[in-house]
Amino acid sequence: MKKIAVFTSGGDSPGMNACIRAITRTAIYHGVEVVGIYRGYEGMIDGDFTNLASHDVSNIIQKGGTILKSARSARFMTKEGRAIAYNQLKQAGIEGVVAIGGNGTFTGAKVFMEEFDIPFVGVPGTIDNDLAGTDITLGYDTAINTAMEAIDKIKDTAHAHNRLFFVEVMGRDVGFIAVATGIATGAEAVLIPETKTDIAALAKALRKNLRNKKTSSIIVVAEGDDEGGALLIAKKVQALFDGYETRTTILGHVQRGGNPSCADRVLASRLGLAAVEELLKGKGGVMVGQIHRDIVPTSFSTAIKHENKMDTGLLNIVEILS
Ligand code: F6P
Repeated sequence: MKKIAVFTSGGDSPGMNACIRAITRTAIYHGVEVVGIYRGYEGMIDGDFTNLASHDVSNIIQKGGTILKSARSARFMTKEGRAIAYNQLKQAGIEGVVAIGGNGTFTGAKVFMEEFDIPFVGVPGTIDNDLAGTDITLGYDTAINTAMEAIDKIKDTAHAHNRLFFVEVMGRDVGFIAVATGIATGAEAVLIPETKTDIAALAKALRKNLRNKKTSSIIVVAEGDDEGGALLIAKKVQALFDGYETRTTILGHVQRGGNPSCADRVLASRLGLAAVEELLKGKGGVMVGQIHRDIVPTSFSTAIKHENKMDTGLLNIVEILS
């Protein structure tokens, strides 16, 4: 293999730049040229490419976002869009591709590889931590620390004003961010998509807390909870019990930005290096992930099946310690 490409796709996550750096430098180390594709699959279809030299990835290991920009692509979901992308890659002499992204990115890569002969290797880059084949995805550690710090600040106000706060964190399909930050901030309850939320039970617990002189509380809500987002849930709870002055905060995209944590930079470097080496071994159709301490490949089809199940036993910790 003489030339490979790298792109970032889907929601950006802290550590993507560190990974682009690792991929570029590993390829160059092995005498392989590197092309950066801008804006994910959109840029692949448009031929929006740039050659990456070692100095192009200097001073980015510590930066959030992605120098290659990111996008979600409706065009790549069509056969015609994928055919155009294939021709662009062929014309540029690209023989293998590293895709940094999440579920949607690897679903696209899997379909592409069923149709065309250019191998893709994936790196799990998403704050959601919702991929199987890795204990942790790139950006998750930074995101939970960002959210934790934000909730710590909200707790100060909750305590000062004797208030109940509903704080919404990201997580469309999974509650990893909610559970980690809920435990870390001593939340009263954590509401996640994986379990049925019981509004009446929550209202009852809050009433009991107030009787027991608990003056403030934090409820962490994953955005994909079955009872709705934090605003809706706050309304539903208040309809049953309004003993506290209540406020709602949606943390939103603040969780996706910022400089990656040390753990994310190390993970990005390990996974980026491994992804290139997988391609050079002639492998494709896999995502590299970290399981226990090892870097291991997992097929795209396994990685995207949402098999990284939340240990709902963690919710017991919240309940016992709150
Ligand atoms: O997949 C990452 C993620 O941050 C989800 O947690 C969230 O639901 C979604 O992306 C938000 O996407 P967008 O930036 O397109 O609004």
